[in-house]
Amino acid sequence: MPAINRDRLQSLMESEQKKFINERPKSKALFGRACKSLLGGVPMNWMSKWAGAFPPFVREAHGAEFFDVDGHRYVDLCLGDTGAMTGHSPSETVLGAQQQLARGITLMLPGEDAVWVGEELQKRFGLAYWQFALSATDANRFSIRLARQITGRNKILVFNWCYHGSVDETLITLEDGVPKPRRGNVGPPVDPSVTTKVIEFNDVDALAKALEPGDVACVLAEPAMTNVGIVHPDPGYHQHLRELTRRYGTLLIIDETHTICAGPGGYTRAENLDPDFLIFGKPIGGGVPGATYGFSQEIADAIAARQNLEDCDVGGVGGTLAGNALSLAAMRATLGNVLTQAAFDRMIALAQSWTAGVEQAIAEFEVPWHVTRLGCRAEYLFSRERPRNGSQAHHAMDFELERFMHLYAMNRGILLTPFHNMALMSPATTQEHVDRHTRVFREALTALIA
Ligand SMILES: Cc1ncc(COP(=O)(O)O)c(C=O)c1O
Repeated sequence: MPAINRDRLQSLMESEQKKFINERPKSKALFGRACKSLLGGVPMNWMSKWAGAFPPFVREAHGAEFFDVDGHRYVDLCLGDTGAMTGHSPSETVLGAQQQLARGITLMLPGEDAVWVGEELQKRFGLAYWQFALSATDANRFSIRLARQITGRNKILVFNWCYHGSVDETLITLEDGVPKPRRGNVGPPVDPSVTTKVIEFNDVDALAKALEPGDVACVLAEPAMTNVGIVHPDPGYHQHLRELTRRYGTLLIIDETHTICAGPGGYTRAENLDPDFLIFGKPIGGGVPGATYGFSQEIADAIAARQNLEDCDVGGVGGTLAGNALSLAAMRATLGNVLTQAAFDRMIALAQSWTAGVEQAIAEFEVPWHVTRLGCRAEYLFSRERPRNGSQAHHAMDFELERFMHLYAMNRGILLTPFHNMALMSPATTQEHVDRHTRVFREALTALIA
């Protein structure tokens, strides 16, 4: 098994960085200008994380491709970290949004689109009632608040190395078995161990132990972890999760924001889950900001029984622009025409092909890595063993190697998600795009190992 030679990796990284800078004079100039008005030269702090010396500045994006200002064409396998899983600007979403843009953007009043979307979400996910937010983060936060109010308990439970957006309670990890604020947690309002229990995914005993005292309002979980590489649940794990949450009176929030990649009804429908709340954000409106949270009839009754009409606009579940007409028109167009079963069938087949290409190269070059897939999302990780929990997955990460793989790909017109080695297929992705990635992945391995 060839080990990765770190000196070689560093010198390859240097030459890739030179190539990146030399080939992108216009992005470089824009970045120089941006540094004078935007903190770190970027509009959002995580945009600094791209592997190049600066991010490629985008001229335009269509379908599964985009062009930077220097004229380079990229196959986009990042797709806005799922925000553009629909492909960029799908024509049906653009049409629906354009029509609504001309008819009123936000009113604080409902229209027929809201009803259509609620009915469609009911059909897809099987939950009775729906509400809207502007981001999946907010949909998670609102669901947590409601779960606390209904149960009268103040703790929540999450899995180690989860990510559910910038929700204060979730920015917690286990360090040698002790809950600590997650590394990089900016100004936590309280130590998150006050609000949150954190355990490893797939550990049924730890779950039972954490829920038994009866102080946990809700478990917030991705049905398969997707934010530390992909970690699948063990067979039967979800039955245990549901059984234990019911036994101890804890509500179950399933966050489908990424696992919607499993199909039109997400992992929940694909695997017959029965959550109390379900979250779906990012691609629901084809990238137009919006998110939703749904809940069962029982939860709806419990919310209604506690609702206070006079104060319902200031109770911590809100957002002036949430449920706005533009978001809902974009959701209707996207759910009705873009994220369809037929589209998922194509996308999943492409992800299978992407996975097979990477798997074959890993075997041929004998690197101790593996590749995993969930629906139309696939990802390689730098360990031979498939992780069963967040700690194992996190342990397999290799920041230096990851940056090299990303920069090498970017220099050859392929964009992977900056946070890990994830590739997502959209309805506009083609076999040619997948084959191009396989070719470039093999070239990167040749450079690293030959
Ligand atoms: C599973 C999951 N839930 C929620 C979020 C938060 O989404 P947003 O940043 O759009 O609020 C993310 C973001 O990556 C996510 O991965």
